[in-house]
Amino acid sequence: PRSIFFTRHGESMFNLMSKIGGDSELSPRGRQYAHELPKVIQNYLGDQKLTVWTSTMRRTIQTAESLPYPKLQWKALDELDAGVCDGMTYEEIEVLTTAAAAFLFWYIENNYCSLLRTIICPFIGLSLYAVFAYAAEYPEDYANRDDDKFNYRYRGGESYRDVVFRLEPVIMELERQQNILIVGHQAILRCIYGYFLNLPQDDLPYIKIPLHTVIKLTPKAYGCDEVRYKVDV
Ligand code: F6P
Repeated sequence: PRSIFFTRHGESMFNLMSKIGGDSELSPRGRQYAHELPKVIQNYLGDQKLTVWTSTMRRTIQTAESLPYPKLQWKALDELDAGVCDGMTYEEIEVLTTAAAAFLFWYIENNYCSLLRTIICPFIGLSLYAVFAYAAEYPEDYANRDDDKFNYRYRGGESYRDVVFRLEPVIMELERQQNILIVGHQAILRCIYGYFLNLPQDDLPYIKIPLHTVIKLTPKAYGCDEVRYKVDV
């Protein structure tokens, strides 16, 4: 029977700094994982054929670099787009979004005053406008992301629902293929894994897909057999 293998890319420089998104390179530890990966896959596969799918991001391409199999890059496998929050840490997003919400509240409360000042002093008006525009960039509803993580869409970015939609062609192709290894990203692999295990949508954003772990799914008549292998690097 054919198998589908999943792994997240090796640890990236952004993972090390707890930043989300971006297109960073692998960390030294991530490179070590990339180095170990061919042996792990070979152990499972023997001389069976395999095709490796990556995203178009550097961290997945670098992770797949030493794998001696045909490779294909999919734009549709790129990580969930965090929009204006791309490149930030979760803490930075919290602080900025709280500040943005507070600022908007303060601005509306004091609108009349600010308008007066704007007329008196255009410099203050312009500065206020700049701060306002900056603050308005950040999603004031981020604090509630956990209330409906599946539908939460980053400003200028995507939600898990959007990702499921854009993964449709990937999943259709995956259904037709033989052995495939996907070197992917956390949110993306959660959606694909959730699809094959038939998990409810609301659970997808919380599935545990740790770094440096190969997951092997073997589809059966109902559901899938699963094996996980953690690589110590
Ligand atoms: O932190 C790594 C990462 O892949 C980010 O790039 C991405 O935004 C995040 O995980 C997705 O996980 P969550 O939806 O739990 O924030």
